[in-house]
Amino acid sequence: MLFELMAPFYDWFIKVANVDHSRRMPEWLAPVEGMEVLDLGGGTGVNARTLTGAGSRVTVVDASRAMLDRAAAKKVPARLIQSNAVNLPLPDESFDLVLISDAWHHFRDHAGVVHEVARVLRPGGRLYIIDFDPQKGKTRFLALLEKLVAEPSTFTIPDNLVEMLRQAGIKGDFHYLTANQFIYKGVKG
Ligand SMILES: C[S@@+](CC[C@H](N)C(=O)[O-])C[C@H]1O[C@@H](n2cnc3c(N)ncnc32)[C@H](O)[C@@H]1O
Repeated sequence: MLFELMAPFYDWFIKVANVDHSRRMPEWLAPVEGMEVLDLGGGTGVNARTLTGAGSRVTVVDASRAMLDRAAAKKVPARLIQSNAVNLPLPDESFDLVLISDAWHHFRDHAGVVHEVARVLRPGGRLYIIDFDPQKGKTRFLALLEKLVAEPSTFTIPDNLVEMLRQAGIKGDFHYLTANQFIYKGVKG
C-alpha cells in the first residue's frame, strides 16, 4: 500500500534520503555484462536501468503495480513482472544474479523468498542483498518511521541472514556500506 502511494515520487525520495545506490550497482555487482539479472522488489527500476546500461538483461519483479508503472513510464529497458516474491512466475535456474535492494525488510515471508531465490538462481549464480542492520540505532529510527506509515518491516540481523541462506545452499558474507546499511553477497553451490 505504501508503495502504491509513494510511486510517483519514489525516485526523488531515495535521492533526498541518500539511499539511491543505482550508479554504484554495476561496480558492486561486477561482473554484470551479459548476465541474466533478477531485481526482486525492484520497484521503479532505478537499479535495473544502470544494470542494463552496463550490459545485463534485467527482469524486475515487484508486488506493486504503481511502482512498475513508473518503471514503464520511464522506459526502463527491463522485463517488468508484477508478482509476490514468494511465488515467482519464472523457471528454475534461469538467473545468473539476483539483487534484492532495500526490499528484504519489506518481504513478509523471508523463508518463502529464500526458497524462490535458491530455485531461480543457476548453480554458481550470485545473490546480493542490500538492507539495514536492525542492531544499529539508525535502523531502529527507520523501523519507527515505517511503522508510522503502516508499512510493517522485518529487518534481519546480517549474521542470521548469512546462516538462513547457507541452509538454502547459498554461501556468502556481508560488509557495511554505511553505519547501518550492509551488502550481502552469496553464491549458490
Ligand atoms: C523500498 S522499495 C525498493 C525498490 C528498489 N529495489 C530500490 O532499490 O529502489 C521496496 C520494494 O519492494 C516491493 N515489495 C514489497 N514486498 C514485496 C513482495 N512480497 N514481493 C515483491 N515485491 C515486494 C515494494 O512494492 C517496493 O517496490
